[in-house]
Amino acid sequence: MSPNDPLVIDAFVRALESHVGIALTPDKRYLLQSRLTPLARSNSLENWPDLLQLLYGRPVGPLHWQAFEALITHETSFFRDPFHFEQLRLKVFPELIARRRRTRRLRLWCAGVSTGQEAYSLAMLLRENFPELLDWDVRILGTDIAASVLARARQGLFSAAEVSRGLSSARLAATFTATKNNHYSINSASLPPVSFETLNLIADWPDLGRFDLVLMRNVLIYFKAERRTQILSKVHARLAEDGGYLMLGASESILNDKLFRTLVLPRGVLFTNLIA
Ligand SMILES: C[S@@+](CC[C@H](N)C(=O)[O-])C[C@H]1O[C@@H](n2cnc3c(N)ncnc32)[C@H](O)[C@@H]1O
Repeated sequence: MSPNDPLVIDAFVRALESHVGIALTPDKRYLLQSRLTPLARSNSLENWPDLLQLLYGRPVGPLHWQAFEALITHETSFFRDPFHFEQLRLKVFPELIARRRRTRRLRLWCAGVSTGQEAYSLAMLLRENFPELLDWDVRILGTDIAASVLARARQGLFSAAEVSRGLSSARLAATFTATKNNHYSINSASLPPVSFETLNLIADWPDLGRFDLVLMRNVLIYFKAERRTQILSKVHARLAEDGGYLMLGASESILNDKLFRTLVLPRGVLFTNLIA
């Protein structure tokens, strides 16, 4: 069988979809070459089709997962899509804080958090704007399928290029310490607690409790419609019963409008789990 055999490529693309959820549509298959060539070479193979040939017909194991990881996009930045954070500051947090005044407890979840900038941005936003939360029980959970990005998120060490994307110099000075090699370490002790856990959105989820706010931005965009619908109904079941918020990416939209009520806001859209 030729290494370029469409059967071999299709088998890999199917395995990627069934284990990670990412649907590599025909217009995206060019990514196989750019993302898998380095992995093939580091395994002493001549090129990416040889890697797929090696994986073909084998049970999914560590080398498959390395190949899946190579196909995952981890693009993120601090305060990505700033208008989302403006809506959180102006609308969502004031309302949640008013609603939780009795229990003084807030649970926030960034699903598909990548290297952590999204979760730390939430933490900075809360600290800067809502001093009344200082003695509340506030927790921010970041989850991702990829252990490599979560290790970086936990470390909280960012390059000069990463902090230059989305962080003002005032925020950088207030929350980060310059370290060796032009990197910056986040002073997480000054922020509401942020923790990171592995979670594959298309596998079974552990009991995470319920959340007041879920950010699931720029994750579902890579998935097929059925998967998106399944995940959104699971998210719905994890939102606070009296009304939690779900925020998707700027170019994403909700599919299951039986479960969520869409709030159309000036720039950006939020969803609540309450039916209008
Ligand atoms: C493009 S990044 C978005 C990061 C961040 N949410 C943002 O908007 O800046 C997508 C993240 O989703 C994660 N991801 C992809 N498939 C996943 C899955 N099945 N379960 C959990 N996370 C997944 C990837 O590892 C990646 O870090």
